[in-house]
Amino acid sequence: MNTPIKGFSKLTKEEKIQWLAKTCFTDEKEGIATLKMYWNDDEALQRLHDEFIENTISNYYLPFAIAPNFSINGKLINIPMAIEESSVVAAASRSAKFWLDRGGFKAKVIDTQKIGQVHFIYNGDKQKLSDFFNSIKPLFFEATEPITKNMQKRGGGILDIELRDKTAEMPNYYQLHATFETVDSMGANFINSCLEQFAKTLKEEAMTYNDFTTSEREIQVVMSILSNYVPQCVVRAEVSCPVEQLNEDKGISGQAFAEKFVLAVRIAEIEKHRAVTHNKGIMNGIDAVVLATGNDFRAVEAGVHAYAAKDGMYRSLTHAEINDGIFKFWIEVPLALGTVGGLTSLHPLVKLALEILGRPSARELMQIVAVAGLAQNFAALRSLTTTGIQEGHMKMHLKNILNQLKATDGEREKIISHFKDNTVSHSAVVEMLHNLREEKATS
Ligand code: MEV
Repeated sequence: MNTPIKGFSKLTKEEKIQWLAKTCFTDEKEGIATLKMYWNDDEALQRLHDEFIENTISNYYLPFAIAPNFSINGKLINIPMAIEESSVVAAASRSAKFWLDRGGFKAKVIDTQKIGQVHFIYNGDKQKLSDFFNSIKPLFFEATEPITKNMQKRGGGILDIELRDKTAEMPNYYQLHATFETVDSMGANFINSCLEQFAKTLKEEAMTYNDFTTSEREIQVVMSILSNYVPQCVVRAEVSCPVEQLNEDKGISGQAFAEKFVLAVRIAEIEKHRAVTHNKGIMNGIDAVVLATGNDFRAVEAGVHAYAAKDGMYRSLTHAEINDGIFKFWIEVPLALGTVGGLTSLHPLVKLALEILGRPSARELMQIVAVAGLAQNFAALRSLTTTGIQEGHMKMHLKNILNQLKATDGEREKIISHFKDNTVSHSAVVEMLHNLREEKATS
């Protein structure tokens, strides 16, 4: 068993790698070479990446791709995506093209409020706490002025602060529940700084509040933190067209396709096993854009899935209907995103991704990301309800299989051409490669 190491973070990068190689690598030389293969020659750029996190020893690459031709509210947008899954960008591009000819995507932001909470314990008279809160409420705003000044100039700030009684769920548990507008920044640091100041003000003011008894003055702040559940930071995106326009090359009428599609969405609205996979497909699109634009995909994931379960049962984030011969398909999704601050001004590819998108505001980015999710879901359901998912998926995965099998350029060309009209499977590719190599050996 490995022995624990003390002071790892204090070692130089080279020392960390040497230690790791000795401790974990089967082939030390090869392992070290792999790590260094991903270093950037530009030292300043490498330092920038090293300093994003602690204990950096290399860079972890993901493909950065473009899904072009998205028409969103009449504007043509090329969407950058960072993702490893073979079929995602191809699927997004196909959806973009499909809807480009049918009126494009429409998107609108419903609201942009973010939430933060100070969780605290107060053992005393409820009415006194409520009176105390109301008497000191203006102080929360005053004490945070140095933090909120700049945000206010940009049109944001603290929207409201409420006292919430949570004692039905846990004895003596209360919250300061605050709402924020953070305009173009994701706002995590801003919100957390405000919350920590609220907590300080709460404790300090309680200590000198005349109506409190000595024990009531002892408010215990448990923690102050933003919430990644943002059901009031929501965007809606939709597509619609007459059902007959859905009739394309899938050997099924527009009406039949629309009806089957609506059924598929309905199943994801009422059945949680399907809902999770359905929403996973949506997140293929959402995460890829969130990541490419330097936003916090873990926060988005957590918030989105909580939203999908907001009525107590996990459900589809998208919905579909046919009304008067019009097929409509839409998504409503919470997205707390930023286009300033954080990685957006640090990571060169993130800056470029935002440039590709035309330097969007956070509201515009919310719309783009929601569209990417809807487009991805449309592509998945379109395949699932017609040809099945594997046909397209395996076609895209073919190159990964060829790389795994270390196929030469000549072999790749022959195999890719063969599988244009044949079903791709791992074993079929292995067999063809084997046959090609045998043929070569005997010729
Ligand atoms: C695969 O990454 C995503 C899908 O499973 C989504 C879905 O089933 O809707 C294809």
